[in-house]
Amino acid sequence: MKEVLKVSHLYIRLKRALDQPIVNNASFSLQKGSALAIVGESGSGKTLTCKAVMRLLNARQFNISGSIRYNGMDLLEMSEKKIRALCGSKIAMVVQNPMTAFNPTVKIGAQMAETLRVHQKLRKKAAYELGIHALERMNLPRCEQLMNSYPYVLSGGMLQRITIALALIHEPDFIIADEATTALDVKNQQMVLEEFEKMKRRGIGLLLVTHDFGVAAKLADDMLVMRRGKIIERGTVYDLFSAPQQTYTKELLDASMLRKEKCM
Ligand SMILES: Nc1ncnc2c1ncn2[C@@H]1O[C@H](COP(=O)(O)OP(=O)(O)OP(=O)(O)O)[C@@H](O)[C@H]1O
Ligand SMILES: [Mg+2]
Repeated sequence: MKEVLKVSHLYIRLKRALDQPIVNNASFSLQKGSALAIVGESGSGKTLTCKAVMRLLNARQFNISGSIRYNGMDLLEMSEKKIRALCGSKIAMVVQNPMTAFNPTVKIGAQMAETLRVHQKLRKKAAYELGIHALERMNLPRCEQLMNSYPYVLSGGMLQRITIALALIHEPDFIIADEATTALDVKNQQMVLEEFEKMKRRGIGLLLVTHDFGVAAKLADDMLVMRRGKIIERGTVYDLFSAPQQTYTKELLDASMLRKEKCM
């Protein structure tokens, strides 16, 4: 299987703090067409790890060491111009709150066309048409009308599917989804999970950060458990669910089951 991402010995430290690194020697890899879930308590370093891959951490604030390799290139060494061209095209991210991904006062179509013009240097009309096509692929209804809508009139689930449509437009090699379904109701969550499933089948790698073990069980092949910046357990989803080795993983699993029972 082709490796699309390889993170080796990643350390993230706050420059002003000399104590423990926030992410402490994290290593993992992601294969084409597979999904890797990162789970762990709040504050364990999951989002910072994702942001380091996208090179979204402020270099004045954070000290980052190790390597993050994509297609043989180290993303940490890459020029700012090159990394920005890559992120949003070959490497995409879907965030927790889709509202934050859009400017609420600019119509969806104009925002999609702008992204397409930046990354693919398309003319306005061609970009607009490609945008509609991307929305249609996501099974969104009345796509022309959607392109003419402002983000604030759309539901969270719809917006999230639009962000996924945007993320998929350039056929990325992998997608980082940081709590991408957390803010959605059950029906919309289901739809988004189905889209992720289709992506995997098309060969796109998925790095999935989630609190929801149900989501991890549905989508992921492998799983990492993070605690206080360290990966404390890893394995296939089956192994981690059926025979977790660390007490902490067991506690997380139990807590998640308990939550589910209470919701039923
Ligand atoms: N800009 C920042 N400045 C200082 N500390 C930060 C900053 N961003 C994150 N941290 C700290 O780094 C740690 C890891 O944060 P991170 O956002 O990666 O956690 P997380 O595992 O994604 O948590 P959650 O599940 O709540 O999203 C936290 O203790 C957080 O307070
Ligand atoms: Mg987070």
